[in-house]
Amino acid sequence: MSRLIIVSNRLPVSLDATEDGSYSLRQNVGGLATALGPYHKAHRDCLWVGWSGISPHQCSQEDLQDIQQAYKDRRCLPIFLSQEEIDGYYDGFSNNTLWPLFHDFSHEAQFNPDDWDMYQTVNRRFAQALEPIINKDDTIWIQDYHLMLLPQMLRKRFPEVSIGWFLHIPFPSEEIFRSLPWSREILEGVLSANLLGFHTTDFVSSFIASVGRIFPESSVNQDGLIEMPDGHHAAVDAFPIGIDYNLYARTSRSGLAQDMRRGIEFSAGKSKSHFHSFMSAEGDAAAEAASQEGSWWSHHHLEDQPELDLSRSATASINQKENKIIVSVDRLDYTKGLPERLKAFGLMLEKYPEWTGHVTYYLLATPSREDVASYRELKAQVDELVGRINGRFSLLAWTPIHYITRSLSIKPVCGIYAAGDVALVTPLRDGMNLVAKEYLACHDGREGSLVLSNMCGAADELTDAFIVNPYDIDMVCEALHKALEISPQEACARNVRMQARLKVRTAANWSQTFLETLRQVTTAGMSEKRI
Ligand code: ADP
Ligand code: F6P
Repeated sequence: MSRLIIVSNRLPVSLDATEDGSYSLRQNVGGLATALGPYHKAHRDCLWVGWSGISPHQCSQEDLQDIQQAYKDRRCLPIFLSQEEIDGYYDGFSNNTLWPLFHDFSHEAQFNPDDWDMYQTVNRRFAQALEPIINKDDTIWIQDYHLMLLPQMLRKRFPEVSIGWFLHIPFPSEEIFRSLPWSREILEGVLSANLLGFHTTDFVSSFIASVGRIFPESSVNQDGLIEMPDGHHAAVDAFPIGIDYNLYARTSRSGLAQDMRRGIEFSAGKSKSHFHSFMSAEGDAAAEAASQEGSWWSHHHLEDQPELDLSRSATASINQKENKIIVSVDRLDYTKGLPERLKAFGLMLEKYPEWTGHVTYYLLATPSREDVASYRELKAQVDELVGRINGRFSLLAWTPIHYITRSLSIKPVCGIYAAGDVALVTPLRDGMNLVAKEYLACHDGREGSLVLSNMCGAADELTDAFIVNPYDIDMVCEALHKALEISPQEACARNVRMQARLKVRTAANWSQTFLETLRQVTTAGMSEKRI
């Protein structure tokens, strides 16, 4: 039986060791898990291979068996990495070298030969784990920048097997890519796949330019088929990733998401009722994210509300502005442009004081890759900026920014999206950005404005958004102000066009298109070899 084997750094769920010595499985946050999770769930012939998220030294032999069984029940094959491997391969080469370099943060990139060694070792560990389970009719779909050597390692052992590789982050310009001391090896690694996928045609062009520069003897035809000097062919194309539109639209209408939405609207002074249902919805959400401590609403006691209303009516008598809500959802990553975004929000409060008391920013930003120093520094910077803005602009009963660092599950996230009059999505660089798409799905058939960075793949598709340069604080501030003021009719009209596209270009459509193209190029390659 031919199967699809997805291989990625992380599995859709990770294992966490808890303090009482047991383990809990946690849904992973990030574009890859969001895009491929539904496909894996729906296809019984699909196996997912990836890092367990835990070191084998943390568990006994007995536990290990239970853990492997728990993963097997979910059609996942876990790979266990030692702390040293995680440090060099994941925190080191993947997230301290390739991630910053590919996102145009070359000043952050560290070129450490030991990390490169460990990257090779771990790619080999993945190859060793896969070799015994691969059948010649299987299709192997390797994901992302963590595993760029794996296609070549598998190709050596399985010359005929169909291998696809997709990059979920940007591919940098040829000049930046070539500054990587191991750029040649990385290209050789991925070019052993039959099909290489990127989010945008710009990334495809950068990749082809890099191949041309590093392998001048290679050639590429008009269909994006690269021929290497050894006669091997690899097809290259853009496959913009989508979301499960109906899932987000439906979830945003669910009871829990709607309770969250009404609660947020209440707390932002948009409506006066539903506080109780919000409290219980938030309680349910907190139970879902049981591993996280502390609830961000705990200091909003009902007794505080008269004070809140009094202060609001005081500002309302100065101006009659309708209260508005801004939302954003991110991993705490320096590519997401959080400090710049916060500065733009602060500038808007300063430049347009009529928003004082009338706009609340719900900022959901979950810590990510905390073992990497630049991520810890960013967290400190964001904490400080939120504190500064809240300290400077707060009224007695109005806080401009609700800052939430817990990881929430899909229902509360959809509740937050649904509550947002404006979504502020301003990464400094991003391969695609699914958050922008999820926000629009949660506003299916209704208003809600998207302020979107021109530095992410999604900007190529969502051209009716308020497109901004995320580095231009003034521009983001003006766009934010306009997006808050836009009429519901204009917002709806903009959204309808973008939503129509998102309904068709879904995550399912993305994986089908990629896999069908892979099937075609592999079949064409085989018949060529036979001739
Ligand atoms: P990336 O892959 O770089 O994290 P994307 O925007 O492409 O960025 O995808 C992020 C995915 O993770 C989305 O599905 C989003 O809903 C989810 N996500 C991001 N941050 C959070 C968070 N703080 N809590 C819950 N889900 C989140
Ligand atoms: O989108 C890029 C990516 O690395 C994905 O592979 C992953 O889903 C996401 O970012 C989260 O990153 P990490 O697995 O390092 O937490």
